[in-house]
Formats: sequence, C-alpha cells, structure tokens
Amino acid sequence: MLNFEFKNPVKIIFGKNQIVRIAQEIPADAKVLVLYGGGSIKLNGVYDQVMTALAGFDVMTFGGIPANPEYEILIEALELIKANRITYLLAVGGGSVIDGTKFLSAAALYDGTEPWDILKNKIRTEKGMPFGTVLTLPATGSEMNSGAVITRAETMEKFGMGGPGLFPEFSILDPQVVKSIPQRQLANGITDAFTHVLEQYMTYPAQAFLQDRFAEGIMQTLIEMAPRIQKNPGDYEAAANFMWCCTMALNGLIQKGVPTDWAVHAMGHELTAMFGIDHARTLAIIAPVHYRYNFEKKKEKLAQYAERIWGIMEGSIDEKAEIAIVRTETFFHSLGIDTRLSQYTSDYQGTAEKIENRFLEREWLGLGEHKNLTPADVRQIVELSY
Ligand code: NZQ
Ligand code: ZN
Repeated sequence: MLNFEFKNPVKIIFGKNQIVRIAQEIPADAKVLVLYGGGSIKLNGVYDQVMTALAGFDVMTFGGIPANPEYEILIEALELIKANRITYLLAVGGGSVIDGTKFLSAAALYDGTEPWDILKNKIRTEKGMPFGTVLTLPATGSEMNSGAVITRAETMEKFGMGGPGLFPEFSILDPQVVKSIPQRQLANGITDAFTHVLEQYMTYPAQAFLQDRFAEGIMQTLIEMAPRIQKNPGDYEAAANFMWCCTMALNGLIQKGVPTDWAVHAMGHELTAMFGIDHARTLAIIAPVHYRYNFEKKKEKLAQYAERIWGIMEGSIDEKAEIAIVRTETFFHSLGIDTRLSQYTSDYQGTAEKIENRFLEREWLGLGEHKNLTPADVRQIVELSY
C-alpha cells in the first residue's frame, strides 16, 4: 500500500426531507447566492423547498448554469457576486452547478486579473468563498470532493481545477430528488460513478486489499441498483444506494494508498469539449479501448475484476481480463449507452490527432498509473474508439 494523507471535511446530511436543514448550516448574517441550472429544480419542487428553508435569509438567485458549466455564464455570476457583496454560495443541482459554484468560490477571492488563469495555469485554491450544495443528480461526486471541471465554448476547452479550499461546507443528499431525473441522466450518473471507480482500481495490484473491496462494493452495488433505478426512479431505497455509491466513488476514500489512472477522463473531456457529448458517455467510449490498449499493464486487475464483479472464474488471466472488458461494454449498453465515437458524431475523422496535439501543447506527456502513456498512445486509443 502506498503512503497517503486523507482529509475530507464535507458534512453530509443524507436522507428524506433534509433540504430544510440548510438553514442551520448557513450563517444567519450571510448574503446568500443560490445557483442553479436550466430549471429542473423549478419543476420538481426542489427550488421551493430551498427557498422556503432560506426564508429570513438575505438571498439572491442565479439560474441558467448549463451542463458542462460554461465559463462565460459563470463570469456573469461572478459580477453579480462582486456587485452585491455576496458572502455565501449555495449550489442546487448536479455536477455542473456544483462545479460552476466551485469555480465561483475560487474566482470570488482570486486576486489575479483573469479568472481563466485559475484553470489554464492550474492554480490551486487554498481558500474559497464558503459554499454548500443541495445535490439533485447523483453522478460526479462533486458534492463531497474539492475538484471541478469548467468548459469554455469559445476555445473548445474543458479544464479541471481544485484545491483544499474547494470542499463544500455541507451537502444535502435527499434521494427523493432522483424521482424526476430523466433516463438519459440516470444512465449517465451510473456510468460516471462506475468509471470513477474503474479509474482508481484498474491499474495494478498494490496490496491494498480494503481499497479493492471498497471499490468492488461500489461497482457491485451500482450494477445491482441500475435496473431498479431505471425501471423506477421513485424506488427510494434504490435511489438512496445509487446516490451514496456516486458520492463514495469520488470523495477521495477509495483512491487512498493505491495508484490511479484518470487517463479515460483526460481523453473523455476532450470529446465533450469538441463534440458536446455527455461526460459519462465519453468515458464509455474511451474506457474499453483504453483497457484493451493497456492490456498487459492492467490484466491482473482486469482478471480480479472479472472474478469478483462478473463471476468469471474459468480461464487464464488473459482470458478473464478480455471477458471483463466485454462485460463492461455490455453493462454500458444495458444502460442505453453507446460505446463508439461514430455513434455520436459523423465528424470523428482527425479527432485522435487533434487530441494528441492538444496533449503535446499542454505537455501532458505521461498519463496513467505509470505516467508513461504518451500523446502518441492517446492518439491510438482514441482512434480505436471510432
Ligand atoms: O440544468 P437542469 O435543468 O437542472 O437539468 C439538469 C441537466 O440538464 C438535469 N437534472 C439534474 N438534476 C435533476 C435533473 N433533471 C431532473 N431532475 C433532477 N433531479 O440533468 C442534466 C445534467 O446535469 P449535470 O449537472 O450537467 O450532470 P452531471 O451531474 O452528470 O455533471 C456533469 C459535469 O460534471 C463534471 C463533468 O465533466 C460535467 O461537466 N464532472 C465533475 C467531477 C467533479 N467535480 O468531481 C468529476 C466528474 O468526472 C466530471 O468530470
Ligand atoms: Zn467523471
């Protein structure tokens, strides 16, 4: 097991009818900005619950943060924060709203001239404006981590950011919000969380037996919950387990003491930036080909995953590992997720070279758990995904 430090300060308030508790978590004298997305919270009652809970607070709102939170729109919110001396942010939404709020938390206290530098120059945020979240879409884990991913349409870029100052102070997880989530987003949420586990697991054996079992437990639970939640998003117990799996998949716990990969996300973000493909779907396009391309480096963990997740006990390590990749693709297909780039765009020729060049420009020369996946490897992996 590798050495590690672990600190996660996020207070999770989980369960039915807990949105009301935001009132106890936000300082009474705060000037609050509630941030939300395209309006789903106005249709499912979450907006009303939040505003009722905030009665008596000094509150402003900012709606319209799109999926893949867009920099230019966030800059409008930043102006509002500065002009109105906002002191506390409350994100009400999925990963996009929460990530957008994290960017604003950082940008509000940033003393440079160009907030884009936080993303472009990977400036870590040690202290941000305090914020909480009300999660409406289990998927990213953003509600309990300190990372964010921001998109800029103008330059077709999508960059990560983060730092210890960007943990939410609290997150309300009421699984009843799952009831109104459309099938497409449910499938995305399951796929994103599943791939988060894979990125922290599908490397090489590290003698971290508990971490492996945590990771496998999350994957098994997601596989079990997937058909239940897709059949009936109002199934509270399935929704609760789905939600907790998504949070646990990316709150830092399962990656402690183990090597991690994250190359699938790095390539996937480029596909979203170039084609607007939903984040989770880009992962389903890249993950299987990434595992085939890096088969020799990953086959022992692939075979362990084959045995423990998919029950494949027969055959050699190579045979089990190959079946594991096929089973992963079949799982994504069972959710209604396509796994080839050409199923999302007819304009895919040249994508691999473009991504290779972007990684070269950014000097992302060694990705993956061994830090030796080169831009040329990335080109070949993306080509295999067409
Ligand atoms: O905008 P509204 O109208 O609210 O609708 C949203 C949006 O259209 C809808 N939705 C959310 N909750 C709902 C609901 N519809 C009905 N009922 C509800 N209860 O779902 C749509 C998608 O929302 P979005 O927030 O974009 O989805 P998700 O949570 O999958 O977030 C994706 C973003 O998070 C980033 C991704 O790159 C992407 O930009 N990620 C963030 C990570 C992190 N911070 O740790 C890690 C991830 O790997 C990921 O990169
Ligand atoms: Zn993800």
